[in-house]
Amino acid sequence: MDHEANDSFKRLFDALGIVDAGDTPGVRDALPLRMPVQGVHRVEDRQVVAGRIESGRLGAGDRVLFSPSNRTARVARIEAEDASAPLAEATAGSTVGLTLDEQLALERGEILSHVDQPPIETDVFRARLFWLGPTPLEPGRRCTFRLGTAAQEVEVQSIDRVIDPDGPEGSEDGEARAEVGHGGIAEVVLRSQAMLALDEFAANPRTGRFVLADGNEVTGVGLVSMEGYPDQRALITGRSSNVTVVDHGVSRAARTRRNRHAGGVVWLTGLSGAGKSTLAVAAEDHLFRSGYQVYALDGDNVRHGLNATLSFSPEDRAENIRRVGEVAALFADAGFIVLTAFISPYRADRDRARAAAERINPEGFHEVHVRAPLEVCEARDPRGLYERARAGKIADFTGVSAPYEPPERPELTVDTGDRSVERSLGTLIDYIERHFALTERAAPEE
Ligand code: ADX
Repeated sequence: MDHEANDSFKRLFDALGIVDAGDTPGVRDALPLRMPVQGVHRVEDRQVVAGRIESGRLGAGDRVLFSPSNRTARVARIEAEDASAPLAEATAGSTVGLTLDEQLALERGEILSHVDQPPIETDVFRARLFWLGPTPLEPGRRCTFRLGTAAQEVEVQSIDRVIDPDGPEGSEDGEARAEVGHGGIAEVVLRSQAMLALDEFAANPRTGRFVLADGNEVTGVGLVSMEGYPDQRALITGRSSNVTVVDHGVSRAARTRRNRHAGGVVWLTGLSGAGKSTLAVAAEDHLFRSGYQVYALDGDNVRHGLNATLSFSPEDRAENIRRVGEVAALFADAGFIVLTAFISPYRADRDRARAAAERINPEGFHEVHVRAPLEVCEARDPRGLYERARAGKIADFTGVSAPYEPPERPELTVDTGDRSVERSLGTLIDYIERHFALTERAAPEE
C-alpha cells in the first residue's frame, strides 16, 4: 500500500508542479519535530513509545506533546535498534523507542511533537486530492483517512473545484462540482468525527500529506491546506487549573417558576444579509411583550465590546463563537431565552455552543438556519459589504472568500429569500412559543 501511495504522490506532485522537499534529509531535520506513534509496548516494567521520526530532531530530556490527546511528558531515554547505548539525539528518518518520565495512556496514531511547535488540531480541512477510487468521488462519500500512523473515517463535505493540470492558469471556475472521476485532481473539504492532528503540506511535507483508502485499497492521496479553516487546538485546550464549580443560591427550577418558562438558546446561523439580526431583534421585541425574559445577542454588537479584540480570521471567528456560546449558555442558566445572531460559519463551533448550552439544559439549544441564497444576500447588501468584498477590499468575507458550512440537521430552517419578514418571523416565533410555552402565573414566592 505504501509503495502504491508513493507512486501516486509522485504523480500528484508532477501534475501540480511541486518539488517534494519532504524527502531531502537536511530539509526534514530542520522542520518541526513530528513522530507518529507506531505502538506502545511494555519492556519489563517500562512503557516504550515506538515510532519513526518524520521530521525534526528529538533530544533526550525534551518536553513533548502528543496530539490529538494533548498529553505531555518529558523524554527520559531514546533508544534505536541499531545503537547499543541510549542516544542523546535522534533525527528525521530514524526509528526509535522512547521512555517517558511518566506513564501516559497513549495509542498508535498520535503525533509526538515539541510542546511549542505542535501540529494543527481540527476536524475539518481542505485538500488537493488525487482521486484513484473505482467509482467517482462525490460529496458525502466516506473513506479511511491515513496520516502518519493514524486512521480515521472522513467524509467528503464538498468538492470545491476540479483542477485541470493541463488547463491554462486560472481555468478553474471555482464552481462547486458534483463529482471527480478516477485519476482526477480536485480541491475538496474533508470532515471527520474525531479530532485529527495534522500539518499543512506547505508547512510540513511529511505530515501534511495523507492517503485515502477503502479497506486495503488506496483510493486517493492528498495534500492538506487549512485555508479558510481554523486550528481548533486553542479552543479545546483548557488553561485554568485549581478551579472548582460553585453552586448557585437560586435553583434553576425557581428561576423557571418565576419567569414562567425555562431558559434556552435559540441559535440563528446564516450568511451575512440572510436576516439573522432582523429576526432576532423582532422576535425579542414580540416575546418580551408576551411576557418572556428574552435577550438578543448580535454579532455586530458583541464585536464592539466583549469580542472587540477579534478579527475575521478563521481562528478569531472560532474564538468569537466559543465566547458567545458560553455567554449564551450563562444567559440561559440565568433563565433567559437568548436569541443569538452570528454568522457562525463553522459546524464545529456551533456544536461546541450546543454542548455548552446542553450542559445546563439538555433541551436548551435550538439551531435555526436563517437561509437565503448567496445571490439574494448579495443583492440586499444593506451595508455594501458584499460589494466591497467582491472588490477585494474586505478579506475573508463569508460566502465570497471564506467558507460557510450550513447546518446539517438544524432544529428549524427559516427561509427568508422568497418571503416577507413577517412570515419568517411568524415561523420563528411559533417555534419558540411551542418549545418554551409560558406556564400559568405562579403564586408569589415566599
Ligand atoms: S462570525 O463569522 O464570527 O460569526 P459575526 O456574526 O460575529 O461573524 O459578524 C458578522 C458581521 O460582521 C457581518 O454581519 C458584517 O456586518 C461584519 N463583517 C465584517 N467583516 C466581515 C467578514 N470578513 N465576513 C463576514 N462578516 C463581516
